[in-house]
Amino acid sequence: MNIQWYPGHMTKAKRMMAENIALVDIVIELLDARIPLSSKNPDVRQLAKNKPRIVVLNKSDISDPVANEAWLAFFRVNDLAAICVDSVSGKGMTQITDEARRIMQPKLARKLARGRNFTPIRAMIAGIPNVGKSTLINKFVGKSVTKTADRPGVTRGKQWIRIVKDFELLDTPGLLWPKFDDERVGLNLAFTGAINDQIIDIIELSLKLIETLVSQAPSSIPTRYKVDITDGESPHDILEKIAAARGFRLKGGTLNLERAAITLIDEFRAAKLGRITLELPAEVTTC
Ligand code: G4P
Repeated sequence: MNIQWYPGHMTKAKRMMAENIALVDIVIELLDARIPLSSKNPDVRQLAKNKPRIVVLNKSDISDPVANEAWLAFFRVNDLAAICVDSVSGKGMTQITDEARRIMQPKLARKLARGRNFTPIRAMIAGIPNVGKSTLINKFVGKSVTKTADRPGVTRGKQWIRIVKDFELLDTPGLLWPKFDDERVGLNLAFTGAINDQIIDIIELSLKLIETLVSQAPSSIPTRYKVDITDGESPHDILEKIAAARGFRLKGGTLNLERAAITLIDEFRAAKLGRITLELPAEVTTC
């Protein structure tokens, strides 16, 4: 299956990201907890220009809790601060400010010792499309003390959200582009909705998802759709079973595979097949 995607606005996004990074003390790198590897742009380290990063595994409410712990341990072993959040409920968000304070503490202490004025920590959120950047920012806005226009002449036009007295967030997220190094990454992004469905053959995608679920979460389809899957059964046959189980038929009685495919993909994305993480840290070599 060939997934191609050339987002024309990415050059502009990269330029804006570089401009904005220059204004912040810390970068919050937002990943999808179901696919921490595929949703990670490997260039972010260079883009962040050695500024400290906090890895935030978003959507941790719909990923596997055991895998969440494994990923947190993995990032921490690799010297990166890591946190699991659910941006819809806000769970885990206060850990972001706590972690930022912990990371910035030595620098802030040095500044104050030199007689400099107190300034709040400034951070920005960066991540690929659909990872939850706007949801997280909106949640922060809900908690914010004030929305502050920036000091004139310094970073004109930027809007900072003061979350607490010592922490401000840039209200514009940094847009990163996904990397399609191999087919698996493209598929993971498509399964989770990071790639626009209109450019993908939905039945073909559902067959790949079935193949993945049969191998990685074997009980998920039988439990959700009350179908039996025999050893070696083809994804196409399984899709037909899902269509039959849900009564999806066209006029004349033939099975409506497209409707079954859309249903499967939507229900997977909504975690109705369970909290499933598609990538585990053992597959990763660098972060
Ligand atoms: P983006 O700015 O990075 O592009 O992502 P955005 O915030 O628009 O979020 C993309 C989708 O992911 C939204 O769902 C949003 O509700 C969902 N989402 C974001 N964070 C979380 C989270 O922590 N947990 C869960 N379960 N979902 C999350 P949508 O279906 O596209 O939109 P909507 O139906 O919620 O409006």
